[in-house]
Parts: sequence; structure tokens; C-alpha cells
Amino acid sequence: MGLNYTAIKLSVKQYIAYFDLTEKHGMKLKILVGTMTSTADYVAQAIQMDCADLIDDIEVLMMDDLSIGVFSADQAENALYLLCTSTYGSGDVPDNARALYASLGAEPQFLGHVRYGVISLGDRTYMQTFCFGGKKFDERLLDLGARRIGDVWCHDASAGTLPETEGAAWCREWLVQALAQLAAESATA
Ligand SMILES: Cc1cc2nc3c(=O)[nH]c(=O)nc-3n(C[C@H](O)[C@H](O)[C@H](O)COP(=O)(O)O)c2cc1C
Repeated sequence: MGLNYTAIKLSVKQYIAYFDLTEKHGMKLKILVGTMTSTADYVAQAIQMDCADLIDDIEVLMMDDLSIGVFSADQAENALYLLCTSTYGSGDVPDNARALYASLGAEPQFLGHVRYGVISLGDRTYMQTFCFGGKKFDERLLDLGARRIGDVWCHDASAGTLPETEGAAWCREWLVQALAQLAAESATA
């Protein structure tokens, strides 16, 4: 079977670009936390500890004082975003996430430069609104042109599994995929 030199050249280019992105420019993961009783915060902290070897810096930001400005072009430079939020009321975002969520609707800006993932915490007992907190953020970010990497990851509190352990394991896989995608984008830019 003949070798596909074009594919090899592209992989080498992507490999170089991966190290260029992670080593030279210092890629950062910004985890934005929406929570009522701290579970989402524990998940973010577990990710901060478990995924430190995959990316230069992991910053955990509570959503309380954030607005759409957290996604501005200068903030998003060399950054990946991870929305990590629970669900309350009847499918609402938690109280500390309300202002940020509202700001995405009230002060819309094009967010085509933003690459993000979503961890959504919920409980399947709430059948009609399962994990709507993260899903609502996802919908609004997509509307503004931001690009999600991977699927929205949902945790079901009624399943009896630990969100910190499962969330950190999911995030390791997601980060590898996200960094490879950014490397591929920069290699073909
Ligand atoms: C009053 C209340 C309302 C809730 N509403 C929903 C809901 O509509 N949909 C859902 O999927 N989960 C719902 N949940 C489950 C929480 O989102 C879930 O337990 C989550 O892990 C809590 O995370 P936190 O501690 O970070 O806030 C609700 C929980 C409570 C206590």
C-alpha cells in the first residue's frame, strides 16, 4: 500500500502547530462556573488539578461578576472556554449565572473567535428540563457565532456517580480534542 504523503505532511504540520500553540503562546483554559450549592465549582477544581499537564494554565472564574466582556477578542486570545454550570428552578441557570446569561442576550456581540465546551449538571428527575442550564448557555453562544468543540457533557445527579471524577475524565478527552482542533485550524489558516 502506498504512503499518503499529503496526510503525513499535514499531521506533521498539525503536530508542530500543537506544540506551537501549547508551548510558545501558552494556551489557557478558562472555566466559567455557574452554581448554587458548589457542585459545579468542585468539578472545576477537579479539572484544574487533573488536567494541569495538558495545558499551560487553567483559570476558574465564578460567573457572578461576569458579562459578555469575558468573551472579548483580547480575553479569548490563546484561550479555550469551558462553561461548567448547574440547572435550577424549572430549567433555569443558577442565580450566580443569571447576569452573564442575560448579558449574552442584552449586549449581543459577534463571538466567532470563541472556542468552548460545556459541562452541564442536572438531574433526570427533572425530565422536561434536564441539564437546561448548560444547554441554554450553549444555545446563546452558538447564536452569537461562538464555536463549540465536542458535545455538551451532561451529568445526572440521580445516577449516583461523582461529577468531579467523571467531569475531569471527560475534560481530559475534550482538551486533547480541542487542542488538536485549534492546532489544525492554525495549520490551515
Ligand atoms: C430546587 C432545584 C431545582 C432543580 N432544577 C433542575 C432542573 O430543572 N433540571 C435539572 O436537570 N436539574 C435540576 N436540579 C438539579 C441540579 O442542577 C443538580 O443537583 C446539580 O448537580 C447541582 O449543582 P450545583 O451544586 O453546582 O448547583 C435542581 C435542583 C434543585 C435543588
